[in-house]
Amino acid sequence: MNTLTVSSPAKLNLHLRVTRKRPDGYHELVTLFHRISLKDTITLKKIPRGIVLTCDYPGLPTDERNIVVRAYGLLQARFPRLGGVRVRLQKKIPVGAGLGGGSSNAAFFLLGMNRLYRLGLSRKALVAMGKKLGADVPFFLYETNQALAVGRGDRIYPRPARCRQGFLLLLSEKSLSTKDVFRSRHLKPGAVSLTKATGEVRMLCHFSGLQKYQEIAALIRNDLEPPAFSLRPSISKQIQKLTRAGYPLVRMSGSGPTVFIMFSHEQEIKRHRTLVRQLFPAVRLEKVFTF
Ligand code: C5P
Repeated sequence: MNTLTVSSPAKLNLHLRVTRKRPDGYHELVTLFHRISLKDTITLKKIPRGIVLTCDYPGLPTDERNIVVRAYGLLQARFPRLGGVRVRLQKKIPVGAGLGGGSSNAAFFLLGMNRLYRLGLSRKALVAMGKKLGADVPFFLYETNQALAVGRGDRIYPRPARCRQGFLLLLSEKSLSTKDVFRSRHLKPGAVSLTKATGEVRMLCHFSGLQKYQEIAALIRNDLEPPAFSLRPSISKQIQKLTRAGYPLVRMSGSGPTVFIMFSHEQEIKRHRTLVRQLFPAVRLEKVFTF
């Protein structure tokens, strides 16, 4: 095998609670990750040595600042005689959007290299590398469409979603820095205990399985919304507008700025897409599903 093409899907955080700030600057959180059908494509081709990354996303660095190049560096540290790879990254997932695009790229690059070069890395070894690259990377290394995550968001407990959920995403032109959102004084860690937050996720999974959307709407939270709203007031305006228009299942994903609306049926999305388009004529809308 000389070449390999892999899909690299995005995630949503259906629920996100920040339980405390850690001495190392990171935050402990409890979140429900959900894998969605919006995806990038990564093509790997063996070359004698090193990594050559090309990408169709304007402005995305392709040197060591890119998480995929850093992932190759970790592999090289472990396998000093590792062969090289030419990577073609075709982006559909916006960067800095709260959709885990870069983390997914790093995870699927590691999985792809493991196959291409028959490295024999176990999931445990891959997850250990993933954690070094970023808090959202480990989720993508599990074969599950949904998972409870704790710690920095990197301790994963798969909770496969039984229903194929549909979402409409409101994508922003401008990215938002995760670091800035977590650093904001508007973030109030510790408003909820670890036990309560994990209980919320358990209930959420229960109601999702039963497709009880009213109950889900009453439950879902994202503690990163207040800090993200203070940095980007337009996110809060979008959510308010959608709520006033009668959409109860609306939240921001991760550290934003992407806003999602959750739907029960595919037909519903089709109908509502036109209505949402009228509310936000200039916003990029994307229809996605549980993946
Ligand atoms: O791990 P990642 O590089 O994605 O995180 C980006 C930044 O977000 C971190 O440097 C940290 O400031 C913040 N963060 C945090 N707590 C988390 C995850 C991220 O404070 N659980």
